[in-house]
Amino acid sequence: MRTDTPVTIRRQNYLPFPYDIVAVELEFDLDPASTLVRSRLQLKRLAPGPLVLNGEDLELLSVTVDGQSWEGGRYQLDAQTLTLDGLGDEAIIEIASRCRPEANSTLMGLYVSNGVFFTQCEAEGFRRITWFPDRPDVMSRYTVALRADKQRFPQLLSNGNLIAQRDLPDGRHEARWEDPFRKPCYLFALVAGRLTWRESRMRTRSGREVLLQVYSDPGSEDKTQFALESLERAVRWDEQRFGLELDLDRFMIVAARDFNMGAMENKGLNIFNAAYVLADPESATDANFSAIEAVIGHEYFHNWTGNRVTCRDWFQLSLKEGLTVFRDQEFTADMMAQELDAQAAASARTVKRIDDVVTLRAAQFPEDAGPMAHPIRPDSYQEIGNFYTATVYEKGSEVIRMQQTLLTPAGFRRGLDEYFRRHDGQAVTCDDFVDAMESVYVQDHPGRGLSVFRRWYSQAGTPRVKVSLDHDAARQTCTVTLEQRCEPVGVERLPGAPTKQPFHIPFAIGLLDAAGKPLPLRLASEAETRDSLLLELTTQRAQWTFEHVAAKPVPSLLRDFSAPVIVDYDYTDAELALLMKHDPNAFARWEAGQQLATRTILAATRARQQGEPFSLHGEFVEAWRAVLTVPGLDAGYRARALTLPSEKTLAEYMDQVDPIALADARHETLGALGRALAADWRAATEANQTPDAYSPDPISAGRRALKNLALAYLMAGSVEGAQQQAQAQYQGARNMTDRMAALSTLVNYGEAAAATAALTDFYERWQDDPLVVDKWFTLQATARSTTVETVEGLMVHPAFSLRNPNRARSLVFQFCLNNPIGFHRADGSGYRYWAEQVLALDALNPEIAARLARTLDRWVRYVPELSESMRQALQQVRNHPGLSRNVTEIVSKALE
Ligand code: PHE
Ligand code: ZN
Repeated sequence: MRTDTPVTIRRQNYLPFPYDIVAVELEFDLDPASTLVRSRLQLKRLAPGPLVLNGEDLELLSVTVDGQSWEGGRYQLDAQTLTLDGLGDEAIIEIASRCRPEANSTLMGLYVSNGVFFTQCEAEGFRRITWFPDRPDVMSRYTVALRADKQRFPQLLSNGNLIAQRDLPDGRHEARWEDPFRKPCYLFALVAGRLTWRESRMRTRSGREVLLQVYSDPGSEDKTQFALESLERAVRWDEQRFGLELDLDRFMIVAARDFNMGAMENKGLNIFNAAYVLADPESATDANFSAIEAVIGHEYFHNWTGNRVTCRDWFQLSLKEGLTVFRDQEFTADMMAQELDAQAAASARTVKRIDDVVTLRAAQFPEDAGPMAHPIRPDSYQEIGNFYTATVYEKGSEVIRMQQTLLTPAGFRRGLDEYFRRHDGQAVTCDDFVDAMESVYVQDHPGRGLSVFRRWYSQAGTPRVKVSLDHDAARQTCTVTLEQRCEPVGVERLPGAPTKQPFHIPFAIGLLDAAGKPLPLRLASEAETRDSLLLELTTQRAQWTFEHVAAKPVPSLLRDFSAPVIVDYDYTDAELALLMKHDPNAFARWEAGQQLATRTILAATRARQQGEPFSLHGEFVEAWRAVLTVPGLDAGYRARALTLPSEKTLAEYMDQVDPIALADARHETLGALGRALAADWRAATEANQTPDAYSPDPISAGRRALKNLALAYLMAGSVEGAQQQAQAQYQGARNMTDRMAALSTLVNYGEAAAATAALTDFYERWQDDPLVVDKWFTLQATARSTTVETVEGLMVHPAFSLRNPNRARSLVFQFCLNNPIGFHRADGSGYRYWAEQVLALDALNPEIAARLARTLDRWVRYVPELSESMRQALQQVRNHPGLSRNVTEIVSKALE
């Protein structure tokens, strides 16, 4: 365990590495207990200075330079570095060392999962394999020799192409791999073990034949077909949409049961959390299928945006992550829309946009307002592992999306072409990316540039845009004023921090008349009219005047969520209901409904807090009924439009968060809507049955989403007959989506005996499938009736283990994150449980512990009774001796 005092690393202190590591040869004698690693580095000096290599948890055996032993004071070794001085301009360094894969519970570096060797090197894991300049701007050519017992480890995989294979004495064998592309060490990978695989061959657009393979543990071979097909679709899509071709002869994906994150884009050898590879209709839900396609796309797309062009330093992480999330979101949208008619395709794209915005608001907005707030390109960090955040990823994607909006998709494509033309094979910065985009932008917008836009990379926080409308009846004009403001957050609050500057905000609007008819928009300065307009706010405040506006219109604002901002406009409830019905922009219709629901639930929360009765407005109920029954909408869209905003999203609107009152009010609203619209919900469950033969396509998934949402409303409302319906659906389900949905409503809203019986049945059926057992734990962790004691009971279940990240996430994280009632119990027991688990995890796996630590980030915003207990729990963790750098950074920032 690390006990080092935290050091703050700063972006402005970047210095290039003084050596070029031209070639790296690695040899592994793989043994779970102790693995011997030999590395041979061929280097050229670029600038004066010693050679400083990083290493962690390694046992050094020998160092030679140009074949001569360098023992006896010719190098310096400490816990983190190996320093060699006095090297010539060119040198060959050979280092032998040992590491202990089986004892490695951090899952960084070389580790063993289910008897199989895996590596994880991003961000700083390569230093746990061998001494090396562990930074992304050192790019080298790798050749790798793997040796291991042939019986136990029949498959030996690494990056690039297999160039030789042979048997060795004593039942061992060897494989040699060569990666033809220069890469940083964070993209190195090896896998060794007994695996099965599924493969296919395809021709890239230039006619090269490539081999695609998906590896997984024996017995799971029937669950990799969807992953392989997703990979094929990703390869095609990147060719078609961005002209980017697979550059290797062989591309492999391997599923690991123990993995800290979702997946990793190692060159030619992606390693995945098994949850994002394995699926069949019986064991995986619609959400699982779509996550698999998205993550497979994401990792594949990194091959260009991340691997061919990589990051100069880790502050530039969003260069690859924001861009690659944007690419995977576009991939999913295109896949959802394909083979549909124009209207259904547009709706499918809106559904995808809604899902992405929901994620952003639930995960990134709170982060951007809390103690860990940082720009998408941070200026400092103590532990880079803590900066794989919703801000760098999801907000980073929004910042890329705004560039596409400002440049148009065609202009964006030209900008991306220019980026690769300039930087293929290099390690670059976010500024380099915007420079390439700007070179195209200035051609189409003479005299303008992206200098104001770049502030999205340097300033944190979610801007608020206040909208006001000024209608002049005499002139028949309407003036729209946009005014932006963004409070300092995180380190921006510290004295001496620069004052914040306005952002460049693309703000899409439309106007509707009082009957809900769209008004043609005509700016005072222009001759043409249009249905929708992209306003560009680049100053603190700006105005636009529209002509021929007879009466004060209803504005449709931030269409398609054209920027990651919060809009402030004083709609009346009636105006929101009108937008819900008539706004031609489907995203804005959804948004209006969410706002109406937000008002309703917040009012119900206040009523609860004051002990007053609460009942739903008839207007709200009728608006909901209309979305459910009006003809012409597809089921997937209806399901989104009828889903109440989550507690996390709602909490952001409260001055002092009272999580239990909020959760109860939301539940009460759900139940009241369930009863008020019972007949319509029942009709929806009947009208949206899907055929027995399962397909994860968006139309079928949309039907299941609506049907299962309707069932949840009926159950939450304790509507007559709902319990039997849920039980019947649970028993008769032909796919996991329907089975899980029914089980979830039973567990959350059903009679206790029926819920327990169904949970027992579920475990018995699925106990041999770890991914389904995770679902079983999650259901219980998040159930309304679950308490700290329930969770502690589940932790001693034989199937539970804190060492397996998926398992820890399915129970411990789910309880702390998604069970407001159990977690926020007034006696503070939830927070004490949290502190214990953070510490227990920290001793095993600091990366995972730090993620759990983040769940109390927003403690100051809670009602005083709770925030004080949260503070004590944070304090308790911070005072713990031997805390990792990862957790230290999180809890100290939270307490600052
Ligand atoms: N680079 C991975 C991705 O975004 C995420 C990751 C980071 C995985 C660090 C493992 C460790 O696709
Ligand atoms: Zn990524």
